[in-house]
Amino acid sequence: MNIAIFFGTETGNAEMLADDLSTALEEAHETTVANLSDTAPEALRQADLNIILCSSYGDGELPASAQPFAERLAANPPALDGVRIAVFGLGDREYHDTFGNGSMQLADSLAGRGATLVGDRVVHDAASGELPEDIALPWAEAIIAGLEQT
Ligand SMILES: Cc1cc2nc3c(=O)[nH]c(=O)nc-3n(C[C@H](O)[C@H](O)[C@H](O)COP(=O)(O)O)c2cc1C
Repeated sequence: MNIAIFFGTETGNAEMLADDLSTALEEAHETTVANLSDTAPEALRQADLNIILCSSYGDGELPASAQPFAERLAANPPALDGVRIAVFGLGDREYHDTFGNGSMQLADSLAGRGATLVGDRVVHDAASGELPEDIALPWAEAIIAGLEQT
C-alpha cells in the first residue's frame, strides 16, 4: 500500500513520530513523509492512505507547521472525495478544554472537503508518560489491516 505520512508540528514531536512510523511501516509498505507546511492539499489525492499526525498549540490551535496547510485548504478548497485520511493527534490532557483540538480542526476541515476519515482519531497525551509511537503504530496497523480486507 502507498502510505503518505504528513506531520504538523510546533516543536518536533510529530515529525519524530512521522519518521518512526515510516520506518516501522516501510517494511511492508511504500511510505513517504512530508511536513504539512510543504504540502498542497491536492497532494493528498495520491496515496492509498494518508496519515496525518498533528499536535495542538496555543489555545487548542494548529501548530505552526500545519497553519499554512490549513490556510491553503480554506482559500482554495480541493475536492478530496474518496481520499482516505487517518488523523492522529499529539496533545496534553493538562490542556483540558482544548485537548487534541488541533488535530480535531484538521480532521473536520478535511472531512468538510469530502475526505473519508478512516479509523478513530486518537490523541496521544504527553502527560501520560506513554511514547507516541507505542500508541500510533498499533493504531496505524489496525487501520491498514482494515483497509486491506476491503
Ligand atoms: C504552549 C503550549 C500550548 C499547548 N496547547 C495545547 C492544547 O491546547 N491542547 C493540547 O492538547 N496540547 C497542547 N499542548 C501540548 C502539545 O500539543 C504536545 O506537547 C505535543 O506533543 C507537541 O507536539 P509537537 O512538538 O509536534 O508540536 C501545548 C503545549 C505547549 C508548550
